[in-house]
Amino acid sequence: KYVDLEAITLKDIPKIIAEDGRGNLSVVEKELLPYEIKRVYYLYDVPSDSIRGGHAHKELQQFLIAVSGSFSVVLDNGKERKTFLLNRPNKGLLIPSGVWRELENFSAGAVCLSLVSQEYDEDDYIRDYTDFKSIERS
Ligand code: TYD
Repeated sequence: KYVDLEAITLKDIPKIIAEDGRGNLSVVEKELLPYEIKRVYYLYDVPSDSIRGGHAHKELQQFLIAVSGSFSVVLDNGKERKTFLLNRPNKGLLIPSGVWRELENFSAGAVCLSLVSQEYDEDDYIRDYTDFKSIERS
């Protein structure tokens, strides 16, 4: 019943390096994600002492990418926690439903791109940690 945090790892996003030194390009194609993207949003101008997230989702899945800068993502399945550092534009973190997440330690200029499986729906959020723990325990 608890989501297996060990199964959650950073995914490589294919990177195309221009042979003539004009820089890199990364592409997220549909094969990379287990869902169709319904929504894209991004966090930016986040103060370094801010904590974003602080919720879980009933159904929604999302893929987070540090397209610029870095930040940490703490995942909590109701029983244990695992922290990921996102600091490369060609790595992403796929967060399944049923996982509490907190995003913190944003560097200056960090941008967190989020590719999401659902439209925005406040009813899909679990914003109370005690509620989350009791749902995951049951
Ligand atoms: P929230 O999900 O709490 O942000 P975070 O998890 O990054 O800390 O959302 C912040 C506010 O923005 C909240 O009032 C809901 C609103 N919001 C939308 O209206 N549409 C969206 O797609 C998202 C992600 C948030």
